[in-house]
Amino acid sequence: MSSTTVNDNDEAFQSTFFQHIEQNTPLYISRLAEAVAIKSVSCDLQSYLPEINKMMDWTEAWITRLGGTSSLLPNPNATKEKPLPPILLGEFRASVDAERKKTLCVYGHLDVQPAEMDDGWLSDPFVLTERDEKLFGRGSTDDKGPALSWLWVVEAHQKLGVDLPMNIKLLYEGMEESGSEGMFEAIAQLSKPSEFLNDVDFFCISDNYWLGKNTPCLTYGLRGLAFFEVTVKCAEQDLHSGVLGGSVHEAMNDMVKLLSTLVESGTGKICIDGIMDDVRTVTKEEEDLYTDIDFDLEEFKHETRVKTVSDSLLKKDKMSLLMGRWRFPSLSIHGIVGADASKTCISAQCTGKFSIRLVPDQDPEKVKKVVTAHLEKEFAKLNSPNKMSVILSHGAKAWLSNPTHPNYEAGARATERVYGRRPDFTREGGSIPITSFIEDATQMNVLLLPVGASDDMAHSQNEKYNKSNLVNGIKVLGLYIHELSKVKGPKPSSCRCEPLTEEELMIPGAFMKGFRCKCEI
Ligand code: BES
Ligand code: MN
Ligand code: MN
Repeated sequence: MSSTTVNDNDEAFQSTFFQHIEQNTPLYISRLAEAVAIKSVSCDLQSYLPEINKMMDWTEAWITRLGGTSSLLPNPNATKEKPLPPILLGEFRASVDAERKKTLCVYGHLDVQPAEMDDGWLSDPFVLTERDEKLFGRGSTDDKGPALSWLWVVEAHQKLGVDLPMNIKLLYEGMEESGSEGMFEAIAQLSKPSEFLNDVDFFCISDNYWLGKNTPCLTYGLRGLAFFEVTVKCAEQDLHSGVLGGSVHEAMNDMVKLLSTLVESGTGKICIDGIMDDVRTVTKEEEDLYTDIDFDLEEFKHETRVKTVSDSLLKKDKMSLLMGRWRFPSLSIHGIVGADASKTCISAQCTGKFSIRLVPDQDPEKVKKVVTAHLEKEFAKLNSPNKMSVILSHGAKAWLSNPTHPNYEAGARATERVYGRRPDFTREGGSIPITSFIEDATQMNVLLLPVGASDDMAHSQNEKYNKSNLVNGIKVLGLYIHELSKVKGPKPSSCRCEPLTEEELMIPGAFMKGFRCKCEI
């Protein structure tokens, strides 16, 4: 089929495209297996930096093979002492009319969380293994599977002789799981006039998950994050607990008391004065957004694997539970490090790690102030002569977008064409720190288009990506660029004025003519 006979948006494209994706599924799986085998674990650069670099090179080679252009931007935060992986910039331009066509930029990450067989994996986490139509492997769903799908979308267009309806840019990093080091600086730089991101009209990120196993979603909100480390030190080195226990002020005693003051275990309530100050109040309109969402509490208990243990959740109804996950802050204590529990030692010092998921209007720096004040107050109550210090090791603001933007409408239409139903509009409890940063730096809309299912178990043992999600994901992304290319009006990146208000949209003809910004009225 040639590009002259196939109209982008006709049914013929859809059916040949779907057929092509289905026929090539074994190929996509084997390529994902190659990617999963590369141990691009970003929390341990000492061991794995070469593997992250290899993953970047592997992906860059694919961009080149598919006729795209690419470059590896040195990580702006890298130093001689602290080398960091580069950022991969790729571009596929339409062959026809590229100047006129709009540009979509896709963000993804190629690094993964650590994984060991001993953690309880049923098969080697770095060997993609198929069981029951599911592909098990670290990074299969977070985020290698979804991120690489864009390459197969481009390849399918080429194989079918259909020109890309938009120009596509790829922005792939290798440090996301460790706070996206260097990305903020890179994005700020790349957003400047005539730089890589400056002509991008829309962004799309596939790095979160559906709310359930069956209903596709589009996501318009993420929580932010404030990750804290509190350290208590009692001595210059570890001590024998038999010889010296009973004689010194032990750091670990202070630590468990401090951590126990942070959150109420029965309710999840955060016990830090001022932490709720900037949290928005719930409106009736907001409540209404929750009524139609497909979500079942009992199913959720199964999926989170609490069913057979506590059979209980912090909230008892759908709306309160989803709000607890999406629009209220939560505090989790992750662990105490620096102490070796296998020895009968008094640790010289230990560090408690905890984080707070933030919601719109909460500022990580302001949260740091109230958290530090709380820990200082509680430490003072202990009357301990030891030394305590608190740091905010990484922070990110929450993000809330506008789900009525044409970018979302395009995502919804593409989803509908693949799944035969409109997606649910969801928010997320997790964080993708660069999302709000991209939106602020470029002023362009970001769509979160999840392609994986809620039970994919990102970060956990036996992470997987359903074969059906892999196949349908590629289909959705492919049709999404066609739907998005139909958005009328000038390129959003050519004018960064405020979007039109409802009233301005009512000006006769404004909407019909596709006006999208004030300067055109
Ligand atoms: N893909 C996740 C983010 C995510 C997960 C968003 C689930 C929404 C739902 C991403 O790879 C991730 O793990 N992010 C970290 C960020 C942190 C290290 C700053 C997170 O959320 O813990
Ligand atoms: Mn991810
Ligand atoms: Mn992750």
